[in-house]
Amino acid sequence: MDALISAAKHIEHYYLTGTLKGNIGLSGSVNVHGEDVMQMDQIAQEITIHYLQASGRVIHAISEEANKIIPISLDGRYFVYFDPLDGSSNVPHGLPVGFMFGVARKNLDGPEDNHLRAGKDYIAAGMFVIPTGTFTLALRDAGTWRFHLDETMEFVRPTRMNLPDEPKSWELSFNSANRLTYSKSVQDWIGQNETKYAFRYIGALAADFHRTISNGGMFMYPAIINHPDPKKNRPDGKLRLMYEAAVVALICQEAGGSAVDESGNLILEIQPKEPHQTTALYVGSKPLVENITQALMLAKSVAN
Ligand code: AHG
Ligand code: MN
Ligand code: MN
Repeated sequence: MDALISAAKHIEHYYLTGTLKGNIGLSGSVNVHGEDVMQMDQIAQEITIHYLQASGRVIHAISEEANKIIPISLDGRYFVYFDPLDGSSNVPHGLPVGFMFGVARKNLDGPEDNHLRAGKDYIAAGMFVIPTGTFTLALRDAGTWRFHLDETMEFVRPTRMNLPDEPKSWELSFNSANRLTYSKSVQDWIGQNETKYAFRYIGALAADFHRTISNGGMFMYPAIINHPDPKKNRPDGKLRLMYEAAVVALICQEAGGSAVDESGNLILEIQPKEPHQTTALYVGSKPLVENITQALMLAKSVAN
């Protein structure tokens, strides 16, 4: 955990001083997902790997910015799955981005299978919202906690996070420009519910979900199945299971909420088959997630 916190502080420092140093543009390369890589993506990647290597406690890591599993220390005990810079399109504007991670433990009883872990087997998941100096950390079965960076660069004063029961502060968060590309059931659900809640969208999961966990409501990135250009459909969603969706799902569960995919499966139960697999995501206050799950399941049963 110390290595991840040090990496986050270092990334925060680079981000805050990036404009001066000219670090915030495009790097000119494209990552494993076919997305433009910003210089900050690469800087954050290198910083994180440096601290994970120095800790000696991590066997291997999976990062959004690396195609393959990254071997780190053979005698380490942990697996780390991370997105070094979440919300890259905010970088040129100096607006909030994230550093998100999940941690799982090596199997000490019996042979180590080196398997990719499902979210329910993460022992911790966290997200730093940079450069706001906030850190939200979920410890499995021990709650979700929010820390703030103080003037000595320490993350202090943990506060336990519980999603508010009262719907009056709840917010919905999704990319409204995509709504006509969603399934009919999701479009109908939005039509029936959107006027009940405020709507907020920053375009970085870590920052958007930071609001969801404080105010309640639901963040969603549904499957895209009705795009006018069928090549742009994303039936398995956009967000990455291991270092985006499962991270917010554990944070949410430990704060009293839940998270499901397009079929209504719990995100934390999904066993990854591939490090970079994507999933649709509905995450937030339980009543809303349960309600949209019913709509998704009903649509599925009618289709079958
Ligand atoms: P990343 O910058 O790590 O690739 O993540 C971007 C993700 C996520 O942060 C955000 O919620 C989503 O992409 C925004 O996508 P749209 O621009 O399609 O709304
Ligand atoms: Mn991301
Ligand atoms: Mn990223």
